[in-house]
Amino acid sequence: MVRANSIELRPSAIDDLASVHSLYRAVAESPGGLARLPVEITRSYVENFLHATISRGLGFVAVDERKEIVAEIHSYSPEIFCFSHILTDLTIAVHPSLQGQGLGRDIFTHFLSSVNTQRPHINRVELITRESNKRALAFYASLGFRQEGELQNRVLNLDGSLESDIPMAWLRSDTSDLKEL
Ligand SMILES: CC(C)(COP(=O)(O)OP(=O)(O)OC[C@H]1O[C@@H](n2cnc3c(N)ncnc32)[C@H](O)[C@@H]1OP(=O)(O)O)[C@@H](O)C(=O)NCCC(=O)NCCS
Repeated sequence: MVRANSIELRPSAIDDLASVHSLYRAVAESPGGLARLPVEITRSYVENFLHATISRGLGFVAVDERKEIVAEIHSYSPEIFCFSHILTDLTIAVHPSLQGQGLGRDIFTHFLSSVNTQRPHINRVELITRESNKRALAFYASLGFRQEGELQNRVLNLDGSLESDIPMAWLRSDTSDLKEL
């Protein structure tokens, strides 16, 4: 799928490991977004989520005209039957130089459209975002995610303060208007 600004969206592949690793390291440099510190964005962390995504999930990358990966989204099903209708641990990252230009909305909308049309057995998509990431919370709500409570004091910030983590879910039954995506 080619976007107007020559950024292409395509399914992620295991060969994307090095590029996705670089992307996540760059995104983690700005605190308050991804949960992990830059030092915690290890090659094995990225390898594990790419494997899980490719074997039992759904993931896309956005590739620019230089073939650099500038955004990524993924989520995968837990490995037991009773959760096989769920995609969980959803994470999205857009390169800092391109944030705020619509790419996050594009790749997330593409992801949800694909769930809707290609994964009819998926009824629920889950993510968790820290309470202070207000723009991300509003963004997810605008895509149809609903807050499901509050995990108080779950996040330890570098300054020693604690904040809530906010679990959110997209339910297929909520989104009969998904055709608009
Ligand atoms: C959150 C993120 C994926 C949004 O992607 P984006 O391309 O910057 O966003 P878009 O330009 O498509 O805008 C979508 C919405 O996201 C919000 N947004 C924009 N820049 C953002 C930023 N830097 N951080 C958080 N939210 C942002 C905007 O409010 C926007 O809402 P609007 O469309 O109603 O104006 C991206 O900014 C990012 O990777 N942030 C750092 C990592 C992170 O926070 N990941 C999510 C952790 S769960």
